[in-house]
Amino acid sequence: MCGIIGYVGPREAQKVVIDGLRRMEYRGYDSAGIAVVGEQGLQARKKAGKLANLETELTAQPLASASFGIGHTRWATHGGPTDGNAHPHLSASGRVALVHNGIIENFAALRAELEDEGVGFDSETDTEVAAQLVGREVDGGADLADAMRTVCKRLEGAFTLVALDAEQPDRIVAARRNSPLVVGVGEGEMFVASDVSAFIEYTREAVEMGQDEVVDVNPDGYAVTDFDGAPAPSKPYHVDWDLSAAEKGGYDWFMRKEIFEQPKAVADTLLGRFDPNHQLTLDEVRISEVELKTTDKIVIVACGTAFYAGLVAKYAIEHWTRIPCEVEIASEFRYRDPIITPRTLVVTISQSGETADTLMAVRHARQQGAKVVAICNTNGSTIPRESDAVLYTHAGPEIGVASTKGFLTQVAACYLLGLYLAQVRGTKFGDEIATVMAELESMPAKIQEVLDRQDRVLALAAELRGARSVLFLGRHVGYPVALEGALKLKEIAYLHAEGFPAGELKHGPIALVEDGTPVFVIVPPQGRDQLHDKVISNIQEVRARGARTIVLAEDGDVEVEPYADVILRLPRASTLLQPLLATIPLQVFACEIATLAGHDVDQPRNLAKSVTVE
Ligand code: AGP
Repeated sequence: MCGIIGYVGPREAQKVVIDGLRRMEYRGYDSAGIAVVGEQGLQARKKAGKLANLETELTAQPLASASFGIGHTRWATHGGPTDGNAHPHLSASGRVALVHNGIIENFAALRAELEDEGVGFDSETDTEVAAQLVGREVDGGADLADAMRTVCKRLEGAFTLVALDAEQPDRIVAARRNSPLVVGVGEGEMFVASDVSAFIEYTREAVEMGQDEVVDVNPDGYAVTDFDGAPAPSKPYHVDWDLSAAEKGGYDWFMRKEIFEQPKAVADTLLGRFDPNHQLTLDEVRISEVELKTTDKIVIVACGTAFYAGLVAKYAIEHWTRIPCEVEIASEFRYRDPIITPRTLVVTISQSGETADTLMAVRHARQQGAKVVAICNTNGSTIPRESDAVLYTHAGPEIGVASTKGFLTQVAACYLLGLYLAQVRGTKFGDEIATVMAELESMPAKIQEVLDRQDRVLALAAELRGARSVLFLGRHVGYPVALEGALKLKEIAYLHAEGFPAGELKHGPIALVEDGTPVFVIVPPQGRDQLHDKVISNIQEVRARGARTIVLAEDGDVEVEPYADVILRLPRASTLLQPLLATIPLQVFACEIATLAGHDVDQPRNLAKSVTVE
């Protein structure tokens, strides 16, 4: 995924564009570039590497003053992260500059068509093809917005395109299909961007763009059409968070800040969902209770951390609703010819709401007649817009590439959905739902308690900083927590780490255990059933083979003490709610290990915050 911004208005365009790119650098940082039109016509600068490299270039070769411009920070798809492949790309005549997020799947045929006309290319990118096509239209006398519409109708794949024409001043035209684009409406100035963080310091009034739409902006306003030029209804909304939420707030990393925002994020996600009559309400639910009552299967589809949140949710949803609940990797889902009927309820989980694999799974599910509920943290993003119902998490912007508060609020939102379904289907009485809700509402304070105990985790990170491989074990809802803990370590510490069901280790993976291998074990609460004792046995198995056992166990659990080299204590909670606590030390551990290793925790190598390509 990439970060894109366009600006037109009275401010110095270069500053607005560069500051906007800085706020979106988490979306991709393989290269960065800018194009402005001012006193010296169209000027562009672009450099491989992080934004800082472009800023160095701009210091060495300043741009002239300009009132409109576009910018791009790239996560490379077609063509390596080089200066030549960096956006913006210019048309042959040099009039048009264009930036792009996504993948144009038919770019090779279009490139061949242009080459047959004698057009030369400077890069290996699909984006340059779009720039040349728009340029060809404009050179032929087309209005920039008409040129954009003509070109978009020829493109296949996913794209957000933003373009300017040196000879059509104070105008920027943008288009989107399967890729994010939002309009920022200022006073006498306008913005287009991949997400609101790019312009939130100037305005919190935004406009949601729909599928296959083109927006034409100038300082006095904007016009949205479809690809045929017919006016499209605009969807203005007010952004409910401010710039400070997108700043680090004194933390070294956004990730660390977001770990510590989790008490509030979970509290905000639960807020106002349970009315005084003990009735749960969700956000936009456009699915009738009759349909929910006839649901005979739930399928959760997601990627990465969101998938692990779904794995946690499965246990609660099945327990509360007695509906079979499958959890699927979104990129696998539609290719395995899944059994989906109008009585299937598909639940998608996505922090960004733009993950292409998940979006394509949503479309497939709806084509099969299923109803789709989106659990999402990004208002106005594509996945909720294409779903039948939405349950927004209220975590605030999550900037760190490694998801933390996104995960905890996804689990909390899934629990709300599970309780709502149990309420609608009558599989749990009101007082039972109230009991679970009461415990859920007590979790923010317990999450804070876990955070207050982080010193032991920080010390452990220092002790284990030389580890070459770390294993994570858990049973029941502890197993997805083990998977999430391993993913965090992979993502930001670049360490080999693997999560296993604790009972599965003896079927092969235990061969990985050697003297000193760090093994984290999530121990379920005592007293529920033999699950606790089974996990104790698993700890003994690995310890007998030399493992260094780091045990996450609830306060007062003395049974673990003989087998634990390190105990990380958790406040008491019921089995299903323990993931909201057990995950936190694993997040803190990964963040600290990566920091000690000198890694860029917020922008780890090879990754991007939201993967908007399949
Ligand atoms: C999580 O730390 C990763 N950044 C990644 O696995 C992420 O959860 C996944 O790409 C899904 O993103 P989404 O929630 O925005 O759809």
